[in-house]
Parts: sequence; structure tokens; C-alpha cells
Amino acid sequence: MGFSEKQRQVLRFPYMGYDALICDGAVRSGKTSVMSLSFLLWGMGNFRNCAFAICGKSVGSVERNIITPLLAVQYLHDHFTLQYNRGDHMLLVSRGGRENRFYLFGGRDEASYTLIQGITLAGVLLDEAALMPRSFVEQALARCSVDGAKFWFNCNPENPMHWFRQEWILHPERHNALHLHFLMDDNPALSAATRRRYENTYSGVFYERYVLGRWVAADGVIYSVFDETANTYRPDQRRPDMAWISDRAISVDYGTANPTRFLDIYDSGEYIWVDREYNWDSRKEHRQKTDQEYAGDLLAFMGDSPCTVIVDPSAASFIAELRRQGVYVIPAENDVPDGIRKTASLISQRVIQICEACPCLIGEMGTYVWDEKASLRGEEKPVKQNDHSADALRYYINSLPDWRFE
Ligand SMILES: Nc1ncnc2c1ncn2[C@@H]1O[C@H](COP(=O)(O)OP(=O)(O)OP(=O)(O)O)[C@@H](O)[C@H]1O
Ligand SMILES: [Mg+2]
Repeated sequence: MGFSEKQRQVLRFPYMGYDALICDGAVRSGKTSVMSLSFLLWGMGNFRNCAFAICGKSVGSVERNIITPLLAVQYLHDHFTLQYNRGDHMLLVSRGGRENRFYLFGGRDEASYTLIQGITLAGVLLDEAALMPRSFVEQALARCSVDGAKFWFNCNPENPMHWFRQEWILHPERHNALHLHFLMDDNPALSAATRRRYENTYSGVFYERYVLGRWVAADGVIYSVFDETANTYRPDQRRPDMAWISDRAISVDYGTANPTRFLDIYDSGEYIWVDREYNWDSRKEHRQKTDQEYAGDLLAFMGDSPCTVIVDPSAASFIAELRRQGVYVIPAENDVPDGIRKTASLISQRVIQICEACPCLIGEMGTYVWDEKASLRGEEKPVKQNDHSADALRYYINSLPDWRFE
């Protein structure tokens, strides 16, 4: 398989006099694969005994998305010796007497942040740069003090006010950077079927960003792709094997004045079944419940087979009460944009199936909307209203492992 013209530019970039390369655009458009190959060849062609950084969201995602594919490239094995050391998260590449080390870092791993502060680099590749904290990216760049060092970035579009677009994409001249914009057509290996599958995975703002490659702000209904038929099932269509699915969790959004919601969720590997919900709205009921009462309600809702409970991380007192009662609780990961992106993609793929016995959650699918004013400032979040079940669902989805979304 050859390369597209855009990809060939990535291979030529090291010899064009630029200090940085920025590739942004659609998913599956061939950015990461060609960039990591070009990065490795450049490092080996121009340096010896140097350290390089390959950064992604997490070390695990760099292993899966960059190292494993690189290790499968026959051309590299024909010309170099590649040795990946899992324990040190380091790829050692050598040829003749020349040797370089490529260290893996995760922009969201606390440990990576500390480790990268102490290292001297000849180059850094930031995969999905827009999903990393700015402080991590800047720390990584600041470590590049070897002569001839270059920065390599790639990302998918986000909000137009995103710092990475404002600082790098709109001003490549400030950094002597080459900017290349990728579309799915720039990947010569993308089959029509795969392309269609990705087009079906995204809708609304995510479609514009990830399929069309545009930096657009989020507005309107968040899960516009939710379909009352394709994403729901009737209680009498409950899967007979539901009781046997061991991957069950209850996800909780906790409120004192606001409603409290529990969702009973089963993961069969193929589908995520949101089977039942609990709702207590203290305003409507004119009575607030105590943490003990809520904990009692949760144990009753759970029934005879204990399962993991994922709770709104801000509900410290409720978490403490549940733990006192012997419940296994995980405080939820509250990364809002990431959780929404993941949930939206599972809804589009119809992986998420909601029982009609969950009217609050189904109702919120139509009322969970982007905060348009915040979005114009570059901050993406839902309007905090009619969002309780949707938040509980997001907490659950954020607890799933990354590979589920890759
Ligand atoms: N020239 C090529 N020859 C063969 N396969 C290719 C080529 N370019 C890309 N691919 C394959 O296409 C798939 C998508 O490419 P890649 O991961 O580089 O895209 P991406 O733009 O980084 O996508 P995302 O934004 O989703 O991370 C990968 O499996 C990759 O190996
Ligand atoms: Mg990529």
C-alpha cells in the first residue's frame, strides 16, 4: 500500500526546514500511522543516543495505537532492531552502532507528568494533542533542548476556541510549523465499508468534527442521534440472560434538593442494557431524603445480587454512607466532554439500549442540551437542568476501559 500525497508531505517534513508539524482533521484519515513512522525514521536518521517522547492520552493508548502498529511494519524490521520494553514503557531502536530511546507518556497519567519533567528530549510526538492538558503539552515541549529537536502534533477538531487551535493551528508562523489538514480521503487504506461505519458512529457536532474534520462549536440537543426505537426495548423484551450477565453496575447521580437517580446497567460485551431506574425528586415530593434513606433505597434497588456502584464524585457523604453499609463504591470519573463523546458514539452505534421502564432517562435524551453561551467561550458543557439521568449514564460510560472506544 502506498501513501497519499498528504502522507508523503509528513514523510518529507523533517527535511523542509520547519520546527514543528501539525496534522489535524478527520478520524481514520491516516495521521497517526504516517506521523509515527516519519517520526521514528527522522529520529534514527538524525540523532544517536537520544531520547524522544511519544505521548498519547494514556501510556496504554500509545502502546495500542502507536507501538503495536509500528512493530508490525516489516520495513522497520528490515532496517532496524526494535525492542519494546513494557516495564519501562520504552522502545529501543538501533541500527549499526546507532541507538535511540522512544519513551511513552500519557498526558492524563499523573505519573507521566512527573517523569517527563526530568527528561531531555530530541523530539516529541503528541498524538491527539487536543485531548491532553495544556500544561502537559507545554512541559513536554519545554523538555526538547537537543539541537535540531522538532515537535510533532496530531489531533481531531474540537471547539474552535480550544487553546491548541488558537495557539498552534491558527498561528503556525509563530512556531515555524507546517500545518496539514487531513480528510478521510487522505487515507489510501480506508475501505468504503469502514468509512461508512465511522460515518454512522458520529452525529451532530461530532459528525462535523470527526467525519468532516471541522472545528465547530457544540449546540442543540447533545444526543440528537438517540432513537426511541433503535435505542430502546420493552420490559417484555428483556433478555432472558440478563440475570447471568455478571458485568452489572448501578450508576448514581446524587441530589439533595435536585433529583437523585439510580440506573441499573448490564454490559453483555456487545450491548449495554440500561434496565431500570430509580427516581426521587425532593421538590416534587416536598421531602428531602437523608443519606441513610438513600442508601436503604439503593440496597433495595440492588436486590439480592451485589454489584459495583458508581457514584457522582461530588457526593462525598453519600459515598461514605454506602461504604459504611458495605457497598463497593467507585467515585465516577467526571470528565464531561470525554464522557459525552463516548456516550454519543455508543448511542449512535445502538450499543446503548434503554428499557422503556426508564422514563426519566429516555425523557432526558431530548432535553439534555449544550450550554451555547459556554460553548462560544470554548467551554463545552451541558445545561445543568434535566440532566440527572444523563449524568448517571455518563458516569457509567466513563468507567468503561478505553479500548472499548478505540
Ligand atoms: N498509507 C497507508 N497504508 C496502509 N494503511 C494505512 C495507511 N494510512 C493509514 N492506514 C491505516 O488506516 C487506519 C487509520 O489510520 P490512522 O490511525 O493513522 O488515522 P488517524 O487519522 O490517526 O485516525 P484517528 O483520528 O481516528 O486517530 C490505521 O489502521 C492505519 O494503519
Ligand atoms: Mg490517530
